[in-house]
Amino acid sequence: MGLFKRKQTTPLFSILGTDMHCHLLPGVDDGSRDISETIACLRTMAAAGFRKVYLTPHFQANYPNNEDDIQQRFQKLKAELKHYEGLPEVAGVSGEYRFDQYFCRRPGIDKVVPLPGNLLLCEFSLHNQSFIPIDTFLEFQKLNYTVLLAHPERYPYLGPHSPEIKKMKEHGILFQVNILSLNGFYGQIALEKGFEYIENNWVEYLGTDMHNTHYAQELIHTTENRRVKKMLEKHTFRNSSL
Ligand SMILES: [Fe+2]
Repeated sequence: MGLFKRKQTTPLFSILGTDMHCHLLPGVDDGSRDISETIACLRTMAAAGFRKVYLTPHFQANYPNNEDDIQQRFQKLKAELKHYEGLPEVAGVSGEYRFDQYFCRRPGIDKVVPLPGNLLLCEFSLHNQSFIPIDTFLEFQKLNYTVLLAHPERYPYLGPHSPEIKKMKEHGILFQVNILSLNGFYGQIALEKGFEYIENNWVEYLGTDMHNTHYAQELIHTTENRRVKKMLEKHTFRNSSL
């Protein structure tokens, strides 16, 4: 045996284990274009410490996916992934539902497919602040869904001090911050808001929002981020419960 043994390090995001927000179902939205890109992203996620992944394709006006088609595509992907080793388990498919006028008029609104625990991943428009349907969130809460708001740090018109944000927290809406936000991927403002939400103990989940290999590279860079490492020592999240 050599005198110097290579130090074994645990990948940073092992502590989370599960990712519940990514766009790796090939060819259905602005995420991975094909199976090879999906596999490349999954490999990188494994290297960063993720062991389990739930796919969340967009459901919004410009990606009018429907749950039946998404299920079929998911089963096809699962069959393909059997030929590969060392990837995180792709445990299920749900959606990232954009709550806008389209969603509220959408036929089949009752068909939404939640994450385990009846968790419904939702987002608003990133640019149009005229429609923040908190009342619709509350309707879903009454139907026993738990609303999980994706990346609250990314909405330019919302911040930790916005009345709408406070109202959501008061009504039990959960928040999921994007890991890449904390490395500056979406700019300095999103970075600072992301950390502020976490410091306020308002964040229950961290997600990758992985779309393609560009995001995957950023995820690897984020594993070296000291502020993120320190934050993970101090705060706990619910990812591993999924
Ligand atoms: Fe997303």
